[in-house]
Amino acid sequence: MTDDITPKLKALGLKNCAANLAAIIGVDPPSKGIYTAVGQYRDDELYSLIDKLAELTHSNVPDLIRSFGMALFPGLKRLHPEFVDAMSNVFDLLENINDHIHYEVKKLYPDAQLPRVDCDREGNERMTVRYHSHRPLGDLAEGLIRAVIHHFQESIEVDRQDQDSVGSHVNFYLRRFQ
Ligand code: HEM
Repeated sequence: MTDDITPKLKALGLKNCAANLAAIIGVDPPSKGIYTAVGQYRDDELYSLIDKLAELTHSNVPDLIRSFGMALFPGLKRLHPEFVDAMSNVFDLLENINDHIHYEVKKLYPDAQLPRVDCDREGNERMTVRYHSHRPLGDLAEGLIRAVIHHFQESIEVDRQDQDSVGSHVNFYLRRFQ
């Protein structure tokens, strides 16, 4: 694969993105890159797509996954505006992931394996968000959290502390500036 990957990626557009992407970067996953919202796919398909893409774009994997998380949130919002529109700020949305957003997601997609996102709020200025999953996707959680902050246009600083070596258990300390 050569360095002309960037214009090809730009030319992909949104339709059939995963299948085209898999073909362009030379990964041949069992699903052939044909993904649907209701299907279940092996986690290693995702990891091998990311590894290859990181190699081809000379990016590191954590940066790529964080960027993916940031780009993913507007799509989740388009798909399920009811979950986002009901919330008025970052802390409210994050606090509602386990018991409302992912809870409803599980009803819609019973096979989904969702992480735990536990939040402890200290007044209006500070919140600790604890991500726990069987998947090592703390970088995805970080990208999604940063996208939520961007969505509500709030001034919030995020300090991250990994609790293990793989990214399955990560704490995020959020501090809001008035
Ligand atoms: C509109 C809001 C949201 C919707 C509709 C949504 C929905 C989903 C869905 C469908 C999955 C896939 C699960 C599977 O098939 O196994 C998922 C996974 C995930 N969600 Fe959410 N989500 C939302 C917001 C968030 C936010 C704000 C975070 C931030 C922490 C988050 C963290 C994650 C992570 C990290 C995963 C990957 C799976 C894992 O880590 O085990 N989600 N979510």
